[in-house]
Amino acid sequence: MSSPGTTPIETTSAWQALSKHQQQLSHSRISDFFANDPERFKNFSLQAPELLFDYSKHLISSETIDLLLELATQAGIGDAITAMFKGDLVNNTEKRPALHVALRSPHKNTAEEKEVHTTLSKIESFVAKIQCGEWTGFSGKPITDVINIGIGGSDLGPAMVYEALSPFHSNQLRCHFVSNVDPCHLEQTLTNLNPETTLFVIASKTFTTLETLQNANAAKIWLQGFASDIDLTKHFVAVSSKSDKAIAFGIDKNNIFPLWDWVGGRYSLWSAIGLPIALGTSMQCFRELLSGAHAMDEHFRTSPLNENMPVLMALLNLWYLNFFQVETQAILPYIQNLHLFPAFLQQLDMESLGKSVTKDGDLLNVNSGGLVWGSAGTNGQHSFHQLLHQGKHIVPADFIASASSPTSHSEQHRHLLANCFAQSQALMQGKSLKEAKAELATLGYSESDIATLAPHKVISGNKPSSTIMMQALTASALGALIASYEHKVYVQSVVLGINAFDQWGVELGKQLSAELFQAISSDEKCASFDASTNALINYSKPRIKEKNKRIKE
Ligand code: F6P
Repeated sequence: MSSPGTTPIETTSAWQALSKHQQQLSHSRISDFFANDPERFKNFSLQAPELLFDYSKHLISSETIDLLLELATQAGIGDAITAMFKGDLVNNTEKRPALHVALRSPHKNTAEEKEVHTTLSKIESFVAKIQCGEWTGFSGKPITDVINIGIGGSDLGPAMVYEALSPFHSNQLRCHFVSNVDPCHLEQTLTNLNPETTLFVIASKTFTTLETLQNANAAKIWLQGFASDIDLTKHFVAVSSKSDKAIAFGIDKNNIFPLWDWVGGRYSLWSAIGLPIALGTSMQCFRELLSGAHAMDEHFRTSPLNENMPVLMALLNLWYLNFFQVETQAILPYIQNLHLFPAFLQQLDMESLGKSVTKDGDLLNVNSGGLVWGSAGTNGQHSFHQLLHQGKHIVPADFIASASSPTSHSEQHRHLLANCFAQSQALMQGKSLKEAKAELATLGYSESDIATLAPHKVISGNKPSSTIMMQALTASALGALIASYEHKVYVQSVVLGINAFDQWGVELGKQLSAELFQAISSDEKCASFDASTNALINYSKPRIKEKNKRIKE
């Protein structure tokens, strides 16, 4: 067995066997697999904690799964899973462990787990103070609105979970999420909010992120606009690993919730970054979220590879990315409350797997991660699903559905489910020319109209999808769902030999924007960049000035 990151994965015998196998299998039809095997669903589905994972509608046979599992074994997946849970420095470029699993561990054995539980207690007592009205704003009124100011992992996770858990929202408190440096985001959020009863959570692991600091300063100015002597410490708390910076901003040291180097931003919603979740729902809900994720951690850590949901999710993704050269993946939650889930997964998957070199710094010769996108069904059916059905691309899709609705509208919910299942069925089955012609004939079309129209009605089918189902979108089911994708990303990175926990690519844009900010702000005509950038800056300058002049008048 090779150790992860040393042998280029495409040189392994399993990879080569998969290449050959793909050539044999690529002419098969998924629907024929079903026709020939009445046990196909049973053989290609599993029950994980809280989730049913159906992967039978994929272009795979048992041999495909065996070969993919052999690939994972040759990549050293068993050792890599142990290494992550043990706290080894799996994030090798930053020399850090990735211990998000410790954030949801019920144990207090390791130093990290102890810190986690101390912080959970601090969160719990803070949430209690806010929710019972003991913590008040500057005028003595209880807090009614919480604005989380953060971006990336300090925004997407808590915002997505808060939305997903809408049925469990607290009656007293509303949460809002401001991330964009576009001043409209904060300004529009503040409209109609009362400064006396608004609390800001400044969420930034590094406390250096431009967008967050700009918005945090603007929030401070907004509050000070109501009275100069406001006690700001009643309105600002922070979540950060850099408490000195948060204190320098003006936050009371007792109101800073810690975060640690061993928690990556996109894996941090389980930490105090999840504070708005606990505030906006309840501490019990937050703990259930953690326990659902922990159940998935245990499933991932202990299940054999062939019954391991995140392992199979990752291998299926790699199968299409590398053996069919498919570059994209659709995430289609048929649950309105999960409408932010695709955006959350974009960061988790694309920031983790968007890499071109291996952990050793060698050029990666195979595809790493795909383009992740999607939206809530059924809405997507009335827009981009046309391309899924008749476009030339293969877009493997993950359908996510819940057997029950938090509402009492059972008929509408059954329509939702029927649409979800119909989409995966339609993607697989398609419609042949013969079927299209027969359908038009039944509708009474003439021979010549049938000949003209039928080709437009052909749907190739054979498009793969997984379906993930849960009993209900509870906090613990959501925890398990998110954790399954986190581990899927890790498995993929291990097989490819890349680091899933760094994100150096985002730095260049940050560096350049600092220089460009100077150029946009100066009175001089800009000539120091490429012609396009100079022209864009020079187009903006007089218009910014004009706008500022009008504001002053
Ligand atoms: O720019 C990318 C990034 O570093 C993400 O990885 C991170 O989640 C986000 O910025 C926010 O970082 P911070 O929490 O330090 O403000």
